[in-house]
Amino acid sequence: MDERARKVDYVEKVKLRVGDLHPGMYVCELDRPWLETPFLLQGFEIKSDIDIEALRRHCQYVYIDMLRTRTVEMTIDALPPRSYLNDKRLTSFEKEIETAETTRKQTAIMIRGIINEVRFGKTVDIAMAKDAVSSCVASVIRNPDAMMFLTQLRRKDEYASQHAFNVCIYSIILGRHAGFDAAELEALGTCGLLHDMGKIAIPETILNKEGALSREEMALMREHTTKGREILLAGHNIFSGSIDVAYGHHENLDGTGYPRGLEGHQLSQNCKIVAVVDKYDAITSARPYRPARDHLHAVGILNKMAKERQLDGFLTEGLIGYLGIYPPGSVVELSSGETAIVLESNPAQRLRPQVLVVRDREGAQVERFMDLAETSKDAFGNPLRIKSVQRSDAAEVDLNRYRKVILDSLNA
Ligand SMILES: [Fe+2]
Repeated sequence: MDERARKVDYVEKVKLRVGDLHPGMYVCELDRPWLETPFLLQGFEIKSDIDIEALRRHCQYVYIDMLRTRTVEMTIDALPPRSYLNDKRLTSFEKEIETAETTRKQTAIMIRGIINEVRFGKTVDIAMAKDAVSSCVASVIRNPDAMMFLTQLRRKDEYASQHAFNVCIYSIILGRHAGFDAAELEALGTCGLLHDMGKIAIPETILNKEGALSREEMALMREHTTKGREILLAGHNIFSGSIDVAYGHHENLDGTGYPRGLEGHQLSQNCKIVAVVDKYDAITSARPYRPARDHLHAVGILNKMAKERQLDGFLTEGLIGYLGIYPPGSVVELSSGETAIVLESNPAQRLRPQVLVVRDREGAQVERFMDLAETSKDAFGNPLRIKSVQRSDAAEVDLNRYRKVILDSLNA
């Protein structure tokens, strides 16, 4: 996503069903205009169950401002099954992560191979990508959380291949939400993998420029869509859907995108899916011109774009619903002052995932696993909860450093 083209405001807010609300949460937006309700326009803190009852009479959903929400003990029930993403996992996270890691490594080698071949003037042949993408699909179908976790372990120096892998995985996950079968997911995963192939034709000086792009540079950057189409059109064994996605993944449903200004009814479902996940991954990745933004920031931007009908609402909601408030791989600050990495979310208590504590309250490095669903108090007997979500770079936590210890512990 070329974010420099658009400045977006955002609010750190999370959409919740009224049934999931608890006293202490700060309501900042309703699912209907404030004026149609008796509530204060500027938002309010839920003081008791009476407030929740009052909200229930007027709303199905509300938005919670996470920054203004006080320390509360809360349990959120799993959302009712609405898509495949809420299906029972066929394997446990611990079991799947080992296979997922092998698949990720093979996929990364394959992506780098394709990128290099095109860079050296060879035509793309994605026959070699087929096995890797179908292994990714199989892993996501067994348990999407493992692959999802691996997308968080980003390497700064390999943005192109990392972004291709992440968009491939997120697309498959979202395709499940949209009800795609395995064959459709494989085609979609390939679209995700190849969507930015045209960037190979864009000068590195523009791709890696630290400052804002000039009008001419921006126009050149946008050409990666048409260049991507040309590169793939000339390739071998290319699924035509991936040409369509390389060309159309920067189109917006309201016709404000590029290069053709197409509208929603002219865009394929594959294009709409890749558009959503491409933006999520770009926002949450570090770029030469800005640091990575955290998950809630990305949620705010995607929500806004869906509201403005630039992104598909059902798909955007599906991705945010799956990722939840604390996606695996998030870096969080606990109310005890400790810093931790989120490992696996507990479907019954989505605000109390399993974590790896990596820094104690004094900032000293530690490595300690903790299940927040089972640990409700800190060492001083105070209620323990997640206080904030931080960017891994802002918190100076190098997730790759913990890759081995996390994987080892999960495989133990
Ligand atoms: Fe792109």
